[in-house]
Amino acid sequence: MKIRTIAGNPVGAVGLGCMGMSFAYGKADQTEADAVFGRALELGVNFWDTADMYGAGHNEQLIGSYLKGKRDKVFLATKFVNVYDRTLTSHQDLVEQNVPWIVDGTPAYMKKAIDLSLQRLGVDHIDLYYAHRVDPRVPIEETVGAMGDLVQAGKIRYVGISEVRAETLQRAHKTFPIAAVQNEFSLWTRDTEEDVLPLCGELGIAYVPYSPLGRGFLTGQIKTIDDLEDGDWRRSNPRFAEENFTKNLELVDLVESVARRVGATPAQVALAWVLSRGEQVVPIPGTKRVKYLEDNAGSAEVQLSPADIEELSAIKPASGERYPEASMKYVNG
Ligand SMILES: NC(=O)c1ccc[n+]([C@@H]2O[C@H](COP(=O)([O-])OP(=O)(O)OC[C@H]3O[C@@H](n4cnc5c(N)ncnc54)[C@H](OP(=O)(O)O)[C@@H]3O)[C@@H](O)[C@H]2O)c1
Repeated sequence: MKIRTIAGNPVGAVGLGCMGMSFAYGKADQTEADAVFGRALELGVNFWDTADMYGAGHNEQLIGSYLKGKRDKVFLATKFVNVYDRTLTSHQDLVEQNVPWIVDGTPAYMKKAIDLSLQRLGVDHIDLYYAHRVDPRVPIEETVGAMGDLVQAGKIRYVGISEVRAETLQRAHKTFPIAAVQNEFSLWTRDTEEDVLPLCGELGIAYVPYSPLGRGFLTGQIKTIDDLEDGDWRRSNPRFAEENFTKNLELVDLVESVARRVGATPAQVALAWVLSRGEQVVPIPGTKRVKYLEDNAGSAEVQLSPADIEELSAIKPASGERYPEASMKYVNG
């Protein structure tokens, strides 16, 4: 596995997103999840991503139970801010209003969240702790300042932020050094390509694309909505809605045609393009299957020519917003 760095720490250029093992993308199998973890370590895929909200703690527990005795083999990232247990939040007025989604970037909430994450993961420190979203009620300086205190206390090693725009990143980085930004980024989500991505390069910050496979759509494995199980979160995502689905398949056709030409899978091409955007880029494709993990790890070896990259870069943006309406107000915060 090729190596990239996060705050000077070497990590595999392709990481592992663990969310789908507990949440959002159909049923998962614990035995297969453990097999994915084991194979990831063999392949050098050692940058693992989770969050407290994935399965309301389940995902952290799953990783924690696997990591017993192997803690030092993984550069472990988790997140707080998206409220998964409404008894914990400082924003009780929002609980009373029964809003569909609560984000809480207060230091008081963070202090509870970090200890619960450490417990579930069974570790004494987290390598990279992200604010999952920017809380519009709390200045970013306050959230990140409190995260800096966690570094001083030895509970985390580095601070990250997720779903941010450039101005927020600059303010955050002035408050406490930011090690990584995790934004949605892929061939069909390019919102922060022109500003946050190069800014990360300039400031020596890792840019961690989440959903780099377009939540699976760009792999060509999802050709109709019936390829998704009942209850799969993507059924509520506008890009998978009937009016956008067919248009978005045209985009997949282009990825597939490049994949045929270079002798790789569409997933590998989608990831190789993401990797080609700069050395600061460390994607975390998500999977709960060994076969996809191996495929994704192989993307680090795929050579795209300048013409391939140009062709892929010219792909039109996806049809449809990337989240349902209630969640869109917390993106690019
Ligand atoms: N910061 C945030 O707000 C945020 C939001 C979303 C996700 N994330 C993080 O980012 C990680 C990755 O994002 P994601 O999981 O949403 O989307 P993704 O990586 O774009 O796509 C995951 C989907 O693609 C499928 N897949 C993976 N590799 C494949 C391959 N080689 N061939 C065919 N299909 C393949 C997976 O199937 P299977 O599930 O069947 O394996 C899954 O359905 C998550 O696990 C999570 O850790 C962060």
